[in-house]
Amino acid sequence: MKGVVLAGGLGSRLYPLTKVTNKHLLPVYNEPMIYYPIRILVNAGIEEILIVTGGNNAGDFLRLLENGKDFGLKHINYTYQQGEGGIAAALSLAEHFADRDKIAVVLGDNIIEGNIRKAADEFRKQKEGARILLKEVSDPQRFGVPVFEGKKIIRVEEKPANPASNYAVIGIYMYDCRVFEFIRSLKPSERGELEITDVNNFYIREGKMQWDVLDGWWSDAGTFESLQSAGNMVAKTGANKI
Ligand code: DAU
Repeated sequence: MKGVVLAGGLGSRLYPLTKVTNKHLLPVYNEPMIYYPIRILVNAGIEEILIVTGGNNAGDFLRLLENGKDFGLKHINYTYQQGEGGIAAALSLAEHFADRDKIAVVLGDNIIEGNIRKAADEFRKQKEGARILLKEVSDPQRFGVPVFEGKKIIRVEEKPANPASNYAVIGIYMYDCRVFEFIRSLKPSERGELEITDVNNFYIREGKMQWDVLDGWWSDAGTFESLQSAGNMVAKTGANKI
């Protein structure tokens, strides 16, 4: 399985912090934000990693990460997303890199206390389809939210005003090679983006989506509040524990 970190977009919710630099280069406590999602993949045993970046200062990712020796990697692949077409648009740029292999995708602003090894091992055994991770949260309306029928997810709703559950679909997704076919058929959402939630709903409709609940805390870092609280949690307990 290969890994993809999505670090494109314009980070407009963090303006003016993102006026002259890329959101994923900002500090979360003592490290640049992008370190955390890279470690999620490395700790899951993934050695081939693609960083999709974009917006301001894309060249700084190369200067910062080089060939990944700080993470025990021999090489890192990079590509550039023009504009802010959405998470699924950024992921579409990984098709050539994936080369029909399974992929684990991590949003560049997602930080976790623990690791995803168990879920990744389950997905390696899964013949086909996709796998998402859920976490119980107090503010599900900020996220993709699963709608359950018993233990089965029947769809995911993106930022619903009236969430059907207290779970968020976190920004770590595992897909088989059909993901790129699904992305090609997407239409932009009301916010003008190709939504990863629509991709997940393709797999759900086909009955090929599995899910797990993540152990330990999870945070995004894309708003002032979440950036600060993610930094506080890293300071308190550390992140990416294995
Ligand atoms: O954090 C989990 C949530 O992330 C999920 O629960 C939602 O279902 C999902 O849509 C997403 O929500 P956000 O609205 O918080 O995503 P945001 O636009 O902040 O993008 C998150 C990361 O995705 C960002 O740090 C970099 C990457 N991205 C995003 C966009 C819009 C790209 O690489 N390119 C893009 O065009």
